[in-house]
Amino acid sequence: MNCSNLKFQDLTLTRSLFPITNELIYFNHAGTGPLSTPAKKAIDDCIAVFAARAEFKVEDYFAQVKNWRAVVARLINAAPEEITFVHNTSEALYIALVNIPLKDGDKVLVMDEVFPAIRYIVQYNLPQVKKLFVPFLGRDPIEVVKKNFDKKLKVVVLELVHYLTGEMIDLKPLIEFCREKGIYLVIDGIQAIGAVDFDVKETGVDFLACGAGKWLFGPTGAGFLYVNKRHFRILKGLHAGWLGAEWSGFEDCQISPPLYPDARMFELGSRNIIGISALVANINILLKCGMRSVQEKIMSLKNDLGQRFLAMKYEIVTPFESPQSGILTVRPPRNAKDAFDRLRKADIVVSLRSNCLRFSPHFYNTEEEIEEIFKVISY
Ligand SMILES: Cc1ncc(COP(=O)(O)O)c(C=O)c1O
Repeated sequence: MNCSNLKFQDLTLTRSLFPITNELIYFNHAGTGPLSTPAKKAIDDCIAVFAARAEFKVEDYFAQVKNWRAVVARLINAAPEEITFVHNTSEALYIALVNIPLKDGDKVLVMDEVFPAIRYIVQYNLPQVKKLFVPFLGRDPIEVVKKNFDKKLKVVVLELVHYLTGEMIDLKPLIEFCREKGIYLVIDGIQAIGAVDFDVKETGVDFLACGAGKWLFGPTGAGFLYVNKRHFRILKGLHAGWLGAEWSGFEDCQISPPLYPDARMFELGSRNIIGISALVANINILLKCGMRSVQEKIMSLKNDLGQRFLAMKYEIVTPFESPQSGILTVRPPRNAKDAFDRLRKADIVVSLRSNCLRFSPHFYNTEEEIEEIFKVISY
């Protein structure tokens, strides 16, 4: 990917762009990503325009949306017209799933262990299809799909990185298999994008849904859906609205310009400009660092954490085979809540989930912070 790749030392300099580092030892990016200073400024700038002038000049607005889309596309090596802005991961999953041309009785195979986002969208928005929820974790995903394969199987939906265990699915071989069988793969990428260097062209993914609220440093209320351009022509064109069309101005609102023939058609109406502008400011930081460097740094921190927990006889819940995500989940020998409470008291933030501690460091975290964590944990 065409990114500059900063060295670890330089990544740590970028730490000053994250005010949270002055307040907390924050290892909870799989929970909620903290806003950067440039993102806060982007929000302040939008609000200043809204307060002083009510709205952006129309030409500025069009240019900004175009630029924002290009930045998001660059993060995952997509084309800008393959990106549609959404409000959250669920909305992106919804748009993907209702637009796949499914017939009554077709089958959708869903990772059973998912965070509720996928489960609710599949359960309540696809009345005409048969839903099969099956375990994927710890298994070869191709074998799981093979086992449930018949001519009716049209879609597989899963999390690229599992929200709790951090297990990351090896997508490339799965995508090749699914493509050969005519199955669409819909991916919830919110626990991966921003932590791992993900290239949609290289993997050939069909649909990738991602909210801003975690590894992309927020804010919630913004996100994107990637739609592989191979599918533009077969999509149903549902969830299309007036801002899914090319407008050159808003003087004449009686005209009806045609919808974009691509992912942009799904932007129903007025966008969350505040949220998108902040998301884009955050992504620009990642692009400047280089996603490869960001991923390497996260993996180095994760590895450090993992080795120390192993030495302390904690159960490592996260599989350590490749590919690797940014999440490390461990089960303490005793009550996880006690360790969690002690960490919280020391202003160290991780997640408590299912009697496990989930650590999710980002590139600006440091080995010194890990030292602090273990001072508290081993107390
Ligand atoms: C895997 C996964 N998907 C989705 C979400 C959130 O979905 P949404 O962005 O729709 O709120 C979360 C966590 O909040 C998650 O961990």
